[in-house]
Amino acid sequence: MAEHGQAGAVADPIAGSPVYPGGSRVNERGHLEIAGCDVVELAEEFGTPAYIYAEADMRARARAYRSAFESSRGGYEVLFASKSLPCTAAYRLFAEEGLSVDVASGGELHMALQAGFDPARIHMHGNNKSDEEILFAARSGVGHLILDSFDEIERCERLLEAPQDVLIRVTPGIKPSTHTYVQTGQLDSKFGFGLEDGLAAKAIERVLASDLLNLTGLHAHIGSQIFELEPYTLAIRALGELAGGWCRIVNVGGGLGIAYTAEDEPPSVEAYAEVKLRGVAEVFGEDVRVLVEPGRSLVGNAGVTAYRVGTVKEIPSIRTYVAVDGGMSDNLRPMLYGSRYEALIADRAAESAGSPATIAGMHCESGDIIVRDAMLASPAVGDVLVTPATGAYGYAMASNYNGVPRPPVLFCRDGDARVVVRRETYEDLTARDV
Ligand SMILES: Cc1ncc(COP(=O)(O)O)c(C=O)c1O
Repeated sequence: MAEHGQAGAVADPIAGSPVYPGGSRVNERGHLEIAGCDVVELAEEFGTPAYIYAEADMRARARAYRSAFESSRGGYEVLFASKSLPCTAAYRLFAEEGLSVDVASGGELHMALQAGFDPARIHMHGNNKSDEEILFAARSGVGHLILDSFDEIERCERLLEAPQDVLIRVTPGIKPSTHTYVQTGQLDSKFGFGLEDGLAAKAIERVLASDLLNLTGLHAHIGSQIFELEPYTLAIRALGELAGGWCRIVNVGGGLGIAYTAEDEPPSVEAYAEVKLRGVAEVFGEDVRVLVEPGRSLVGNAGVTAYRVGTVKEIPSIRTYVAVDGGMSDNLRPMLYGSRYEALIADRAAESAGSPATIAGMHCESGDIIVRDAMLASPAVGDVLVTPATGAYGYAMASNYNGVPRPPVLFCRDGDARVVVRRETYEDLTARDV
């Protein structure tokens, strides 16, 4: 019986959900559909586990970011924080959408270049860049190196063969309410130069005196999965004490939170952009170029993971474990941060959830629990189980723990699915052994 609307119409719990990719729905067969693709059929065709993305949704999010920052008088760049989904198809997609990119290692730089990113739109992070990485970045012609330590400043001066535009990463002493592992703006941090201890001011003085390092601005990323906007304003105000005529660019980081579950209500991209643009204009002036580095909010809700249920174990009066064919090797976030996810049986996507079940992975760890007490519709062996909002930092942090080949990445559009990263094979697992 439908809960809303006319009698006979089935309520669709997926359409319009902020947790699932835009355009997702329950189809006529009662299956979860993403970008026009039936997820039960995708599981059959491509196997499980699989990361499934809605391409149009990623593009829409990139466009929303660009239009939200368009009013910046001094100009803007939206950088795809590629650590969130480091595969060439994603780099290529965001390059096509006119985004720039933030890379945090030589490997990410390699992928961005392979995908055809204009080097001038690549900005290189890292709290411990190696000599090789610095040279690779500089010789590739990256837009900026983001300097993170005095050792790196010295290393750059020793290595660089030509002047290089740089930003200085500052830890402005602001702690947003998020998991401590993803707070990065506090003084006690491995990243950047502190404000309170005066090291940021010293770094600026040092770099301004350099012939090879061309300081164009400042960078601050205070953390991830942030739902409040006030900490950004505070961070920008704090940076203001370093402002000078040389500061033509302010990179205000990423960090906008996303809905992992229906209870999460993150601010809109528009509200986030407004706060960052207003903050920079007030503190640094209207003509400063604003850079922003979203990762999670570009790809997190654009992707889901599909698993196959292998066992259902009921422990009377205790709990029911539903074990799937993946786990901490494809989504480390629940174990690393205690992150909550939703789950759904894709075969019966419109059915109301019955009783709680704990979704366990297949790894040799009791802590390999993907969702504790998920509400599922009568889970059974052979069902396709989906966890939404796994588009960011899932594939990125995947491992071969227990010799598990990493899942493929599928991009779906208008009912067609294409493999953009193939599933690993057992041969891949021994390919590097010598
Ligand atoms: C320097 C920097 N910029 C941007 C990001 C992206 O953050 P988010 O995915 O929360 O937007 C991160 C995440 O770790 C980061 O460290």
